[in-house]
Amino acid sequence: MRAGNALSLLALSFLLIVPYAHPETGEQGWLRYAALPQQAARQYRMPQHIVATGQSAVARSAATELARGLHSMLGENFPVSSTLPGEDSFVLGTPTEIQHLLPSWNAPSAPAPEGFSLATFAAQGHHYWVLAGGTDRGELYGAFRILELVAQQKQVSPGSDAPSSPIRWVNQWDNFDGSIERGYAGRSIFFDGGHVRADLTRVSEYGRLLASVGINGATVNNVNSDLRTLDPQMIKELARIADAFRPWGVRMSLSVDLSSPLVVGHLRTFDPVDPAVATWWRNKADEIYKAIPDFGGFVIKADSEGRVGPSKYGRTPAQAANVVARALRPHGGVVLYRGFVYNNHLDWNDLKADRARAGYDNFRALDGEFDRNVIIQIKHGPIDFQVREPVSPLFAALRHTNQAIELQITQEYTGQQRHMVFLVPMWKVALDTDMRAQNRSTPVSEIVEGKSFHQPLGGFVGVANVGLDANWLHHPMAMANLYGFGRLAWNPELTTRQIIDSWTRLTFGNDPKVVFIVNGLQENSWRVYELYTGPLGIGTLTNILGIHYGPGIESAERNGWGQWFRADNKGIGMDRTVATGTGYIGQYPPELAKIYESLETCPDSLLLFMHHVPYDYVLHDGKTLVQYVYDSHYEGASLAGSYPSRWKTLHGLIDDQRYYETLGMFEYQAGHAIVWRDAVTEWFQRISGIPDKLGRVGHYPNRIEAESMQADGYTAVDVTPWETASGGKAVVCNRSAPCTLTTRLGRPDGIYSISVRYFDLRTGVSQYDLQLNGKSIAHWAANAILPPATVDPHLDGSTSTLFTVSDIRLKSGDTLTLRGTPNQAEPAPVDYIELDKQ
Ligand code: GCU
Repeated sequence: MRAGNALSLLALSFLLIVPYAHPETGEQGWLRYAALPQQAARQYRMPQHIVATGQSAVARSAATELARGLHSMLGENFPVSSTLPGEDSFVLGTPTEIQHLLPSWNAPSAPAPEGFSLATFAAQGHHYWVLAGGTDRGELYGAFRILELVAQQKQVSPGSDAPSSPIRWVNQWDNFDGSIERGYAGRSIFFDGGHVRADLTRVSEYGRLLASVGINGATVNNVNSDLRTLDPQMIKELARIADAFRPWGVRMSLSVDLSSPLVVGHLRTFDPVDPAVATWWRNKADEIYKAIPDFGGFVIKADSEGRVGPSKYGRTPAQAANVVARALRPHGGVVLYRGFVYNNHLDWNDLKADRARAGYDNFRALDGEFDRNVIIQIKHGPIDFQVREPVSPLFAALRHTNQAIELQITQEYTGQQRHMVFLVPMWKVALDTDMRAQNRSTPVSEIVEGKSFHQPLGGFVGVANVGLDANWLHHPMAMANLYGFGRLAWNPELTTRQIIDSWTRLTFGNDPKVVFIVNGLQENSWRVYELYTGPLGIGTLTNILGIHYGPGIESAERNGWGQWFRADNKGIGMDRTVATGTGYIGQYPPELAKIYESLETCPDSLLLFMHHVPYDYVLHDGKTLVQYVYDSHYEGASLAGSYPSRWKTLHGLIDDQRYYETLGMFEYQAGHAIVWRDAVTEWFQRISGIPDKLGRVGHYPNRIEAESMQADGYTAVDVTPWETASGGKAVVCNRSAPCTLTTRLGRPDGIYSISVRYFDLRTGVSQYDLQLNGKSIAHWAANAILPPATVDPHLDGSTSTLFTVSDIRLKSGDTLTLRGTPNQAEPAPVDYIELDKQ
């Protein structure tokens, strides 16, 4: 019932622009309901009364949201009643409820449980727009769809729609103390100080945003679950979160630790086959459903990254999942058992060891052993949300088991909401991958929808990690990922363009120039990020032992985490072939395995994920691997460097608050992309011994290294890893008084931009003052607060930051001075100054 039948998206033939005056924080996300220009508003000849036939909280939300949105966009009032008012009306309800009021109306076809249909109908001289939901949730989704069309000035026509699959959940990795694992947008909206927050206003606002894109479930606590989660007192507190979500049809669920029977229940064991353990889970489920009647179920991370699991007793994930699932089944709950089970103490010296194999190796043999209300939640790639991974082979291996794909909305490995990275194109690559299971078409999207192997449950889980930041995800552009996740979970056939175009219009308005620029920036942003970070499927190349943010290339090697790429001075890449490698490729169905196994057919984008090759290996486009690395990083950094100027063309076309916030983000990203570029290219040049044909790598004629400037108070230090500072060194001011760096310029006269690379450690707020011939030309503070998950106290690729001031007239013989004032434990560190002629 999708595409063809969906409400018509016919654009109206005109688009008028409302000028932006008032600042916006982004708290409304894509639900701004900005007033339409009068002429556009007049095109909507809609009934001005809304009849809500259902009495549930969700049904009421559908009616009040429709009234609120239409009023805000069209200017009229839309009163809501439960009876027919004797005038043209919207009538909302399930088919039975609607027929009660309008006996002569016949549902065109019964909407799917969470689907809806919109039809017009005339009776007793009145015109009705009948919005019928399979359930009250369907009504709500239909109301949001109408509003979304109006906001985009698109025509609202009769039609119907239904979601792809029943599981459309977000996971939040929130801790009870209020922190969020891999959260980059402030503290938890749910928890603080070990308790559920007193004020849950943001939770109901979050529920509204989720419902507007069809998300029907939210797991609110960290997969690394607090052992108190199932404590009776905590369940009472958690019930308040479920209450806040309920009017939006979002069912709350919890991550639980499998040791709960022992830790919370004080049993002697949590062995899943012990009858006392089964009874404990049953009683616990009964207790939860008493407090939370619409409870969604449990997410379980076990035998993974230090979490205990069934292996302790020699039991399988199926035995563990089933004992919990049987406790939930009478209440309609489900278990999402995570496929992210692997050994993080792998032996680096074992050439056959391979973390990517783990999902398949641990679950394949259990196919068919899981109960019907168990769903295996599988990360889209076999490692861990890297910038480029193939899809997990487990999707094709489980044919008698429900599956859900886990996607990461929070940008753990993709710039942590300081870099703009629109992830929908990446998710589309995963969802559209045809695994050719049983030598037939089996795209991942259809597998997780349950279509390919006829499974009853399944769907989509997005790790969202919104926080208390007013705009939810910190970067104004990052909300496109939450929106896009919901839209794809509803309909994975939507294109990237359809999704981003709607998001942009809803978020920034319908001005064609705004839409053009924002769509263009977002659509290409994953590719750009990949270009300047980890190439050819090697992994993101971030510091995997730290905060997963800046470059830290060799951190992936020589340890038990298994994110290896096995580089030496001859070659690079994981040999995962069946012929000579770890055999991972053999986990794919034969047709796909054949493509990956051969260097001829393996796509370059996954080359280093699948094969070990020399640095002068020639790619399909004729370039050597190492030259490709150099070129792609220069291209990526240059594209990221164009973001600020492209964004500036929108000045005055969106509100100033979001305009300047975004501009600041883009300026930061442009600088940090250069950190990435230099680290990766210099590292490749050093290990391969092959210079860049274009002579860029390691040669920076416009740069003045801090350690080569005349210093007062500053001393040189080595930076680790070496590739994260220019020349491997920086200078620090280890005294309380300011320190200075001075240089006499010998550049041709002209207008320059001056960039200063420094390190922003978050252990203090150093001040910098840039002076030309003794006069201050720029002053700034090292006060960035992101990424907030962990404070990084090191001079490295995560803290390295670029400050640029433009339009400075310089003459030969000028004196440039940088004065750094340290603060607390931050020694006003500096890497270099670069002068670029404009
Ligand atoms: C990643 C992430 C962890 C998280 C884990 C998971 O490894 O860095 O913070 O707990 O994934 O998904 O369980």
